[in-house]
Amino acid sequence: MAIQFIVNGKPQSVDVPPNMPLLWVLRDTLGMTGTKFGCGMALCGACTVHIEGEPTRSCITPVSSVAGKKVMTIEGLSPDRSHPVQRAWIEVDVPQCGYCQSGQIMSAVALLAKNAKPSDPEIDDAMKGNICRCGTYQRIREAVHRAATLQKASLSDRDATEDALNEQLVEAGGAA
Ligand code: FES
Ligand code: FES
Repeated sequence: MAIQFIVNGKPQSVDVPPNMPLLWVLRDTLGMTGTKFGCGMALCGACTVHIEGEPTRSCITPVSSVAGKKVMTIEGLSPDRSHPVQRAWIEVDVPQCGYCQSGQIMSAVALLAKNAKPSDPEIDDAMKGNICRCGTYQRIREAVHRAATLQKASLSDRDATEDALNEQLVEAGGAA
């Protein structure tokens, strides 16, 4: 029986065994290969995606458990690497081999959604389930701080744009 869920804002319907891991479905059925297979046992974090906003190990998540839910993968962050976390990762030049990095980024995005200015211990705690065999942990920490700054700036820009639009609407309403 087909299982339906939303991936990166787009409805998907897959006809696969219900206990198939979500990671398999994303990579093999839907062709989204940004999410990586590392251990297959919820030990490394390479397969991290968001389910209803929560960072989740897709390698041990049966696809049936996401029926009707919203899933976000690395491909859903932005179409052009413009998400503040992606920009920070590029600026700080975090990746070495890169294999763990989509999982790292998805955990960082989830952290910053809940905590806009995390401290070093808060970053280490939130990221501790994401293993990097290349040892990029120092740069990950630096990039999360940088992403927090970029995220704050883009939120301020958005607020300023909204304020300007609201002013224009008020003026247009007043003139009518
Ligand atoms: S592949 Fe899922 S945690 Fe390692
Ligand atoms: S960059 Fe190589 S495993 Fe993390």
